[in-house]
Parts: sequence; structure tokens; C-alpha cells
Amino acid sequence: MGSSNNFVLFLVIVSSFLVVISEGQQSSVPVVPGLSYTFYSTSCPNLESIVRIHLLQVLENDTTQAAGLLRLHFHDCFVQGCDASVLLDGSTSGPSEKSAIPNLTLRQAAFKIINDIQALIQNQCGQVVSCADITALAARESILLSGGPYYNIPLGRRDSQNFATSNVTLANLPPPTFNTTQNLNLFTSKNFTATDLVALSGGHTIGIGHCTSFTNRLYPQQDPNMDKTFANNLKLTCPASNTTNTTNLDLRTPNIFDNKYFVDLMNRQGLFTSDQDLYTDSRTKSIVQSFAVNQTLFFEKFIDGMVKMGQLGVLTGSQGEIRANCSARNGNSMGSWSIVGDEQQGRLAQY
Ligand code: HEM
Repeated sequence: MGSSNNFVLFLVIVSSFLVVISEGQQSSVPVVPGLSYTFYSTSCPNLESIVRIHLLQVLENDTTQAAGLLRLHFHDCFVQGCDASVLLDGSTSGPSEKSAIPNLTLRQAAFKIINDIQALIQNQCGQVVSCADITALAARESILLSGGPYYNIPLGRRDSQNFATSNVTLANLPPPTFNTTQNLNLFTSKNFTATDLVALSGGHTIGIGHCTSFTNRLYPQQDPNMDKTFANNLKLTCPASNTTNTTNLDLRTPNIFDNKYFVDLMNRQGLFTSDQDLYTDSRTKSIVQSFAVNQTLFFEKFIDGMVKMGQLGVLTGSQGEIRANCSARNGNSMGSWSIVGDEQQGRLAQY
């Protein structure tokens, strides 16, 4: 185990003790009707500690799984709302949301971790907690256990009985080649502000990207907005545009949830076009600067963004269901509930 991993483990232990004695930070973002901060306090009082204790064990073995769980929640929420639709396996009639191009780089381990947590919860509480809530809680705990902030999240989401078509999935998940104008268009269409976009992009303070997600910035011409030494190192990792290698999203502290991603951007060491352009575009540049010099401010805005994102298009009350198995809708593990068009050709290279 390397020294950076040891440091993260140290953070994990310290933060888990801190959380026992401290309250999570409270976002000022309004709670959507049907969700609440105390939703499972009677039906599954130990819910949050079940999730945390399991993730402590998982991340002790492999810190990098935190990033996979955070991205899973983002991909769930941006497509058809936070309804665990991204977790569903394909049906006989067509491929699932999971198999749409942007989701192919989600980690298989992340799906397994969610299923494992769900089994633990069902053992203690029965079939009362939705897979959508488990995904949101796993993302929140992953942030905390990577050194990031601890914040309260509204719960009570229900699980969908269907998934989105590949076209809908593609239309709602931004590719790394998006510039700030394109990202602002997508994010404002979901009621996010420019500050939300910059803060949420700070999720790239942990995790990895494949060469295919950024070699457009290296070949045939080098992106002039990329630091030259950084570019030369990336060329060693990705000697051709289609190599399967990966690199860290945050050059400075790849496994720690902090504000160093914004320091990267100010040094023209952001990995994707979507990252670096936040520092080029005049609408977002000063926001990047403000987060680079003030981690507390970044955490505060990130929490607001996450609470907002975590409430996108949620199913509540008697809508949807509580799945018995996060990978399949109830009573139909191989149903034919979604017909999916396939116009993914040409997007693969962008992820
Ligand atoms: C703003 C637009 C965004 C774009 C264009 C984008 C794009 C991407 C891409 C292309 C990857 C790497 C895929 C690969 O090559 O393996 C990635 C990874 C990741 N993204 Fe984003 N993303 C965006 C926003 C977000 C948001 C809002 C979050 C969460 C708050 C997030 C969290 C992550 C994480 C944690 C990873 C690393 C995953 C891992 O290591 O498995 N991203 N993103």
C-alpha cells in the first residue's frame, strides 16, 4: 500500500470517528415533496451506518472505488432522474441504459457494491430501502471517506420499473468533448446554475479517465489550452488515440476529495475539454479561481449541487417500486419493458 493510500486510509478512519460525533452539513436547497431527511428513521434506523461500514471495508481494499460510486449516482440522476434506472440489466427486447456508450466506463465493481449493500440492508430492515437511495448514500459516503465533506441528503426515492433508451441516455450525459457552452446548455436545462456546473465538475477531484476520453486534445494537434509537460506525459500514457490505458483525473491528489482539481485547471492540467474549458470561458473562470483558493467554499457549493442533483426527477410515494434486486425490476428479471433504438455509432470515441 503506497503512502498516498495510507494517507487516505488515515482520513477514512479520522472522518468516520468525526462523523459519529458531528452532524452532517445542511444544504439550503429545498427538499422535493415526498423526500425527507428522516425518511428511514423508523423503518431502517441503522441504514447510514450499514452503508458506511461496508464502504469502509471496500475502500480500505481499494480507495479508487469511491470515484466509481460517485459517477454512478451522477449517471443515474441525469438520465430519467435518480431512480436507479442505470442499475437495471438489459431485457430480452433491447439493451439497458447500463449498456449505452457513456455508461460502458462505469465500473462493474460499483454495480456489485450497490447489490452487496442492498443485501445487507434487506437482512436488517427488509425490503424498504430503494436502490436509488442506496446509490445516493453510497456516493455521499464515498465523498466523505475520500476526505470530502459530510452532508445530509433527503431520502425516500423509489425505483423505476424501466430504463431510458440509448438515445435518451446519450442526450442527457455530457461527453468529455463538450465545451462550457454545451455543458451550460445541458445543466441549465436541468435547472443548474454555472456555479453548480463548476462545483459538480469538481467531482473529478477523484477517479480516472480512459485515453479515448481525452486523446482528441493530443492528436492530431495538441490543444493549446493544455500545459505542454502535462501533454507530453499524457502522450506517454496514450501513445495512440485508441489505447485502453487510463490516467488520473486530478494530477495532484487523485484519490483525495479536495479542491486540487481547480488548481489543476488554473495550471492548464485539466484532463478533458469539459474540465479545462471551465477556466477558459469567462462565465466560469472566476468560479474556478474562487474554488481553487477556498476549499470550504467549494465544499459548500458542491453540497448544494449534489443535493440538487440527487433530487432530479425522483419517484416518490406510490410511484415506482422498491426493488428486491437492484439489477432487475420486481417480478420480471428478464422482462421486455424497453425498446431501444441504437444510434450510438460515432460517440464511442468520445468516452
Ligand atoms: C460536467 C460534465 C461532465 C463530463 C463531460 C464528465 C465526463 C466524464 C468522463 C468522460 C469520465 C471518464 C470516463 C472514462 O474515460 O473512463 C468521467 C469520470 C468521472 N466523473 Fe465525470 N463528467 C462530468 C460531470 C461529472 C459529475 C457532475 C460528477 C459527479 C459529481 C462526475 C464524477 C466523475 C467521477 C468520480 C469520475 C471517475 C470515475 C472512475 O474513476 O471510475 N462527473 N467523467
